[in-house]
Amino acid sequence: MAKRMITTEFTEEDAKIEGSLRPQLLKDYIGQQKAKKNLKVYIDAAKARGEALDHVLFFGPPGLGKTTLAGIIANEMGVNMKTTSGPAIEKPGDMAAILNSLQEGDILFIDEIHRLNRQVEEIMYPAMEDFAIDIVIGKGATAKSIRLELPHFTLVGATTRAGMLTAPLRDRFGVVNRLEFYTIEELKEIIIRSAKVLKVEIEADGAEELARRSRGTPRLANRLLKRVRDFAQVKYDGRITKEVADYALDLLEVDRLGLDHIDREILVTMMEKFHGGPVGIEAVATTIGEDPGTVEEVYEPYLVQNGLIVRTPRGRMVTDLAYHHLGMQKD
Ligand code: ADE
Repeated sequence: MAKRMITTEFTEEDAKIEGSLRPQLLKDYIGQQKAKKNLKVYIDAAKARGEALDHVLFFGPPGLGKTTLAGIIANEMGVNMKTTSGPAIEKPGDMAAILNSLQEGDILFIDEIHRLNRQVEEIMYPAMEDFAIDIVIGKGATAKSIRLELPHFTLVGATTRAGMLTAPLRDRFGVVNRLEFYTIEELKEIIIRSAKVLKVEIEADGAEELARRSRGTPRLANRLLKRVRDFAQVKYDGRITKEVADYALDLLEVDRLGLDHIDREILVTMMEKFHGGPVGIEAVATTIGEDPGTVEEVYEPYLVQNGLIVRTPRGRMVTDLAYHHLGMQKD
């Protein structure tokens, strides 16, 4: 069979559109009520005191709004944001240069902060705590350490892998927010908002079907909206109805619960290779060639939240719902 050309892969075009769909202010941000409410208090308080906001950490599965919230904090505080990522900074000197370029109150956003290397992470400790770094100049007996004072900045860190953060780094964040999967209602609202921005007509039950299949994740919701829009344009009259959404999403192989192929592979592996469990996460991850931490922190939370996997003291088990959903028989 010829390979289908339609994919749910993320393209550069998607990245641009994702940017344009991002809310700029807290009032336009849908969902994450708890994080939003807390952030509003801290932002208002810091602004009233004329101080930089305390360092903020966001953690949780990909696509839930960590980068969006960092941008919103910068906008709400009325400051500039510099963005980098853990793996992009190789040497302490690179980080020192970035820190030195910040202005009072600025936000430094570090995505995938769990991937900072040891030496770079270590200069973050005094930078975060004392707004200063010690730089060693020269080598051997003539080496000298000089202290470089930094402006009061706010570090916003984001990670999908909270379990990989070292304690000293984690402890230096004054505000720690865990981002949750979005409800179908919240995703529906986001999809309707995005459709407005994209100037595409969408019916309420079309938006709801898209929301159901978006894996609790706005990034996926917006990506699928764009794909479904294409089908609506070419195959129908441009309007996204439930029929169009169903037709397009079935073609895209996005299932009724929004599971992706790795989600399904995890469940099928547990069923076929481990009799449905109980089985350790390491054994499942190794069998499908994934990192155990990634399976545990990126994939498993959605499967547990939707009642497809349960955690027991003896390991993970797939549920009857999972067998039913995949049309598999228990052996
Ligand atoms: N677009 C992506 N995420 C969003 C959110 N949480 N609220 C509104 N629009 C969004």
